[in-house]
Amino acid sequence: MSKTYRIAVLPGDGTGPEVIREGLKVVQAAATRFGFKLDAHTYDFGGERYIRTGEVLPDSAVGELRKFDAIYLGAIGHPDVKPGILEKGILLRLRFELDQYINLRPVKLFPGVDCPLKAKGPAEIDYVVVRENTGGLYTGIGGISQKGTPNEVAIQSMVYNRFQVDRCLRYAFETARKRNRRKTLALCGKTNVLTHVFDLWERAFHEMGGRDYPDVKREYFHVDATCMWMVKNPEWFDVIVTENMFGDIITDLGAITQGGMGIAAGGNINPDPGGVSMFEPIGGSAPKYTGKNVINPLAAICAGAMMLDALGEAKAAKAIEDAVADVTAHKVKNLGAGKMGFTTSEVGDLVAVRVAG
Ligand code: IPM
Ligand code: MN
Repeated sequence: MSKTYRIAVLPGDGTGPEVIREGLKVVQAAATRFGFKLDAHTYDFGGERYIRTGEVLPDSAVGELRKFDAIYLGAIGHPDVKPGILEKGILLRLRFELDQYINLRPVKLFPGVDCPLKAKGPAEIDYVVVRENTGGLYTGIGGISQKGTPNEVAIQSMVYNRFQVDRCLRYAFETARKRNRRKTLALCGKTNVLTHVFDLWERAFHEMGGRDYPDVKREYFHVDATCMWMVKNPEWFDVIVTENMFGDIITDLGAITQGGMGIAAGGNINPDPGGVSMFEPIGGSAPKYTGKNVINPLAAICAGAMMLDALGEAKAAKAIEDAVADVTAHKVKNLGAGKMGFTTSEVGDLVAVRVAG
């Protein structure tokens, strides 16, 4: 009997449905070739549903999503909905409630892709960022008082406990070991200013590394310097681990060095036994390109590959990555929406045909 994976599909807003359609096409081609099945259930959470019903995420949704093997997400964010409502109510809520405490974001330049960094190619740009995904400023701890008066005060705190830091670091060290490249883990922080939070991160980093991962080299960079080196010497990096907000910011920088949002994928991962993880292109809903069949689906396709890898289908994941590399090397060089020289569905077909073998 072949294995069947139950996948919750959340196409979401804007161009989300278009890219997820191509992603599913490719993932399905991999399933056929490698002998497993996908049982996909689609949910309509997103801006349109919110505008229609006033409901962001029904109460039953989180419990239902918990029963799937993985979640495949398109994009969240709608031009007619105030920023924050959908992002917090769907994306961040799922990350928190499903305890997806890792956001894994590969920064990989595929062959043939136009890179904005001078004299850097696929050999120089190939690392992963492990972003802590459920703590820090994103917890929303804080508040406003005396709103609207000259004395107004707003506070939003960067909150971390040892448990959160340790579990994120452990995943990062394991990732460096598993990648088995330069076996180097770089902690990205701000120990010179955020002397409380990054004192904790730095101590935990060296304690765990020295004790459990003597084979993994440890490095430290301030977040501002990290940005500089990601541009100047990206080849220094193998695995970067960082807190939530810093990770959000540096992975947009990372994305542009790999050709932009058209190809940047990520996984919101709960690595614990029974944990449900969620995979997504990191680029957002791109409202102005919606429905035009011009958006680049490669990021969603790469997110699909990450999903299969997490499900234990490493060969299928690798086949998708290889197919994407072949397509960027020989067909789609400009990854920008409307500039690919192919439609969204044509790019999906190019990859799917190669995956099918
Ligand atoms: C991301 C996004 C989200 C984040 C937004 C949409 C809430 O920017 O996944 O990087 O800040 O985490
Ligand atoms: Mn972001």
